[in-house]
Amino acid sequence: MSTIAVLAGDGIGPEVTHAALGVLQTVRPDLEYIEASVGASALKAGLPALPDETRALCDRSAAILFGAVGLPEYEGRSLQERPEYALFILRRDYELYANIRPVQVFAGLEDASSLKPELVRGLDLVVIRELTGGIYFGLPKETRVIDGVETAIDTMIYRPPEVERIARVAFELARKRRGLVTSVDKQNILETSRLWRRVVDTVAKEYPDVRLEHLLVDNAAMQLVKAPKAFDVLLTENMFGDILSDEAAILTGSIGNLPSASLGARGTPGKRFGLYEPISGSAPDIAGKGIANPVAAILSAAMLLRHSLDDEPGARKIEAAVSTAIVNGARTADIVRVGEKSLSTLEFTERVLTFC
Ligand code: IPM
Ligand code: MG
Repeated sequence: MSTIAVLAGDGIGPEVTHAALGVLQTVRPDLEYIEASVGASALKAGLPALPDETRALCDRSAAILFGAVGLPEYEGRSLQERPEYALFILRRDYELYANIRPVQVFAGLEDASSLKPELVRGLDLVVIRELTGGIYFGLPKETRVIDGVETAIDTMIYRPPEVERIARVAFELARKRRGLVTSVDKQNILETSRLWRRVVDTVAKEYPDVRLEHLLVDNAAMQLVKAPKAFDVLLTENMFGDILSDEAAILTGSIGNLPSASLGARGTPGKRFGLYEPISGSAPDIAGKGIANPVAAILSAAMLLRHSLDDEPGARKIEAAVSTAIVNGARTADIVRVGEKSLSTLEFTERVLTFC
């Protein structure tokens, strides 16, 4: 029996993860689901952000269903003392280099977007973010005194194989979609971007059926709000991907709608070990109120079935149930129209379950 590690974490993490878990258990009662602590909840118990026991569970699991980590009270601490460190270690140690963030506007939710409905109606793009390199992980990463001045240093590093493997993920995906990869960099300024562009161009030669465009990141940020439907697969490095995926997410009306998969090399296609999480984060301002939007978490569970358990029908069943619930008017507070009644996290999840 395959085991799924359930790491709910902080803030709204537990609320939305338990919603997703309920849906998963309904669709796949045959899997073993085991919960473990991570992030601030672990730190508060005097454990590291990723306790050994949690790591051991992940080691023997097929996939990780992840909630969120991070709380305001840890702001200002060093990375190692922060809840986010757990995510950092999981990505690094399992080499989860391929972050897939699908951005879709659900029928009926066009009005919830901050853009004009016609700009986002039918929007369907995917951000492919490199997740284990670049400025997040490059060394040195430290603060020291240089010439008597406190100096903070982060290092942006990329090597060809890192760019090549993530580029392949983007081209393979584009092939199954509308055949366009937009690679985003800052090659007018950054060395890493020049290398990035050169390697992406080389990989592109193996995919003559896919069209490749390059955009500078500032321009990409602008095009995303000007004409988001012009994108199909948006390929980018770690930090640009972090920023652009939040921007892309809000086009859908709420950051609470966007799931993600982080895949590594372990396993085979369809059965890759991966971590699945909403991109919204812990949202401490609404935590514990039972009003968080569980869509991103539920759709992350669907991605888990697709990429780690080779269960495309199960994934589609969950995705269809979410769309149907929304088409039928189910709305949490973040996506509700003025004057309409919003559902709690639990009520929304029950609506989804009726279509599973
Ligand atoms: C994300 C998040 C993380 C990141 C944080 C929580 C470390 O913003 O997954 O987009 O910056 O990668
Ligand atoms: Mg982010």
